Parts: sequence; structure tokens; C-alpha cells
Amino acid sequence: MGGTIVVTGATSGLGLAVVEQLKMAGFQPVLTGRNRDKVDSLATDLAVPGYQLDVADAGSITRVSAQIVAELGPVDGLINNAGIWLEGDFETYTAEQIQQVLDTNTTGTILTTHAFLPDMLARRRGTIINTVSTGALYCRKLISVYSASKWAIRGFTGCMEVECAPKGVRVMGFYPGKIDTSMYDTAGVGRDLNIAMSPEQGAEMVVTMLRSEGMVWSQVSGRSIADYQ
Ligand SMILES: NC(=O)c1ccc[n+]([C@@H]2O[C@H](COP(=O)([O-])OP(=O)(O)OC[C@H]3O[C@@H](n4cnc5c(N)ncnc54)[C@H](OP(=O)(O)O)[C@@H]3O)[C@@H](O)[C@H]2O)c1
Repeated sequence: MGGTIVVTGATSGLGLAVVEQLKMAGFQPVLTGRNRDKVDSLATDLAVPGYQLDVADAGSITRVSAQIVAELGPVDGLINNAGIWLEGDFETYTAEQIQQVLDTNTTGTILTTHAFLPDMLARRRGTIINTVSTGALYCRKLISVYSASKWAIRGFTGCMEVECAPKGVRVMGFYPGKIDTSMYDTAGVGRDLNIAMSPEQGAEMVVTMLRSEGMVWSQVSGRSIADYQ
């Protein structure tokens, strides 16, 4: 068991828990995030390689993906996890907020995949897991743009799953409901997270999807029972 696994948005929440559990499972996780200070301090604490990678910046993706491969060698796995929340009536959003959500959640996932996939295809080996959301499985009011950003990734993931599996590369989607992280706080939104997936539980699912080579886990999900009311 092993391999070099790049995790985006790994400076908190699910991404950080994935890095921690990958390390315990014998992988070589690569911790990346948009904030250099957080990346440096967490990478030092966890004794893993860390890189500042802003997925909303196409230049950062091109530059840093090349640097990771040059310094660490071939990448066996990519966890596209970076994401931001936006909630409220659609007409209250600014154009900048809309663009930021799409740049981060959608274009960021697609361009990061574009950067790492060719080498995986050439080696006929690799795994890409996209953190999607139950927000891409059904429609709810007040999350139109977040939902659009994730529905796009649901479509992208499904198409890439069938396109890449015959070429030896697994592309899979993880569809959590609420996770007890700071995502809502960061977006300035209050949320009751008493009954929610913990980041560690989510990370266990991601690591299970990753380590079971030969298995394509399609649309793995998990929701709080409270969300069915
Ligand atoms: N929490 C939930 O209920 C929930 C439910 C379903 C799906 N998800 C998805 O799960 C993923 C992880 O979210 P989380 O819950 O763990 O939230 P989180 O704790 O806020 O983590 C999000 C991470 O993404 C990073 N990030 C944001 N913009 C970035 C950018 N442009 N480039 C690189 N990194 C960036 C954040 O960096 P900073 O530390 O600098 O802010 C942070 O490390 C997201 O894709 C989210 O949409 C979350």
C-alpha cells in the first residue's frame, strides 16, 4: 500500500483529515492549500510535503503541479477537495461571489484534474476522487450557485469515470451531506452540525475508496438522518 496522493484544500476540515489518515495508512500525502502560512505550519506539524496551491488560479495549478511532480515524482492519486460555500437568495449574490464559487469548486477541480491526469493515463495507473456534495444529487432553495458548481462536477466526474476506467485510471465522486467543519462559518452562515458526518468519518470513506485498487466506487454518499425531515 502506498503512493503519492495530492490533496487540495487540505488546510482544514475534510482535506486535513484525509491527509492525516492517508499518512496513517502508509501513503505519501501531499498537503496543499491556498494559504501559505497554514500550509507551512500544518505540513511541518504532520511531517508531510506541503505546497501553496490556489485552485482558483490557473497559473498556480500549472506551476505547482509541475513542481510537485519534479520534486516528488509521479503522482498516484489526486483528491480534489478544495471548496467554498455560498448560501442565500440568488439575487443577493455579487458577481464576484458567484465567480469565486465557480472558479474554486468547478474550474479548480477540472483544471487540477487536467494537470495531473495525463501522467496517470500514460502510466495506466491512478485515482482521482472529487469531493462533490449531496447538493449535486437534489435541488434545494438558497444554494443555487453552490449547487450549480457541484452539479457540474457530478457531470464531469461521471463522464471522466467512464472515459478513464478503460485506460486504467479511476475517477470517483464522494457525495457527503453535512460535515462538521468550518465551511459554513467561513461563509458567514450558521448551521446546526450536531448530527453530521465528522471529517474523520468522511476521510475514512475517501481512504477506503482510494486504497481498494480495482474498485470504482461510484457516488459514495452519506447524510444525517435529521436531513430527511
Ligand atoms: N462541510 C460540509 O457540510 C460539506 C458537505 C458536502 C460537501 N462538502 C465539500 O467538502 C469539501 C471540503 O470542505 P470542508 O467541509 O472540509 O470545508 P473547510 O473546512 O472550509 O475546508 C475547505 C478547504 O478548501 C480550501 N480552499 C478554499 N478555497 C481554495 C482555493 N481557491 N484553493 C485551494 N484551497 C482552497 C480552504 O482553505 P482555507 O483554510 O484557506 O480556507 C480549506 O482548506 C468542499 O469541496 C466542500 O464543498 C462539504
